Order: sequence, then C-alpha cells, then structure tokens
Amino acid sequence: MSRKKVHDKEFEIYIPSAEIRKVISEMAIKINQDLAGKDVIFLGILNGAFMFASDLFREITLDCQISFLKLASYAGTSSTGNVKRLIGINEDIFQKTVVILEDIVDTGVTLDNIIKQLKGYEPAEIKVATLLYKPDAYTKDLKLDYVGLEIPNDFVLGYGLDYEGLGRNLADLYKVVED
Ligand code: IMP
Ligand code: MG
Repeated sequence: MSRKKVHDKEFEIYIPSAEIRKVISEMAIKINQDLAGKDVIFLGILNGAFMFASDLFREITLDCQISFLKLASYAGTSSTGNVKRLIGINEDIFQKTVVILEDIVDTGVTLDNIIKQLKGYEPAEIKVATLLYKPDAYTKDLKLDYVGLEIPNDFVLGYGLDYEGLGRNLADLYKVVED
C-alpha cells in the first residue's frame, strides 16, 4: 500500500527507506572523515530527528557523544510568539564540536534559533547535518554542512516527520498528494 491517509490529507511514497539508508550511510562516511580526532557531540532535535539521529549514529565510528534537545515555547510570552527556548542541554558542549541533527530545514528559522542559543554555551564549532532541505523555502544563509536530500517545497511525512502529530512511524518518506 503506497498511499496513506493522515488526518484530512492523502500522501504517496516519495523516498523509500532503502534510499534514505543509502543517503545516511554516505553522510556518515563524510562525517567520520571530516571530524576524526575532534571532541564531538551530536545534538538531535526532537521530535522529528529521532529516527534520522538513530540511523546516522549507528554508522558513526568516532569516539563521540549524543544528546537530544527540544524547543519549548516560553511560558506566558504571547508577544514573542515564535521564539522558542532550547531545553535539555545537560551535556557540557563547551569547546566541543557540536553537530546539530535535524530532520528537515525548511525556512531555516528553527535552525537559526537553535544555533543562536547554542552559541551561548561556547562550543568550539557548530556543524549542521540535516536529512532533508527545501532550498526554495530557505530564508537564511547559515551553512548546512551535511545535507542528505534537497527536496522541492512540498509537505513531506514519515521517517520521524509528522503531520499534526501523526505519521512519524512510517519507514518511508511520503509527500502530500495535491488535489
Ligand atoms: P523551519 O523553521 O521553517 O526550517 O522548519 C523546521 C520545522 O518545520 C521542522 O523541524 C519540522 O518540524 C517542520 N517542517 C517543515 N517542513 C516540513 C514538512 O514538509 N513535513 C513535516 N514537518 C515539516
Ligand atoms: Mg513537526
């Protein structure tokens, strides 16, 4: 069954899990080469990046750490609507090479916010690894060091990404069927 209905929308298979695995293996090879000898901590951004982080991390051969962060809305600040606080930094990232693991970079607003907050902890450097990237939607000029797949500006689902809470458990990546 290659189509799925989630809430009110119809989705069709876009990138099968075997191709996702291949893309991730290639990314892991590059990261293993580039960051050899560095003091590395991977930071997966919840919820969307949990599957990508898990599959990538098992192919990382560096001596390194991993932790997970989440963006939470500030309590009671309706004025700063979309500014979110990064929670869960309990490993010391001071003077380390941080690799942010994102499921998708769309406008880049989320990534920009994360990087600004992480800089406050004075890591040695910050690298970005994202499984998916929508160049047509991107509004920032932050460097994306490792990009799995560039995709058009369509809404995608599965492999950790949700549509209003559902669909994260799909092994393949789906895209919305426009009607
Ligand atoms: P940005 O701040 O616009 O880059 O958006 C980043 C966040 O929006 C991601 O971490 C996802 O949670 C969500 N997002 C963006 N595009 C999609 C999509 O196509 N499917 C599911 N979630 C998406
Ligand atoms: Mg989401």
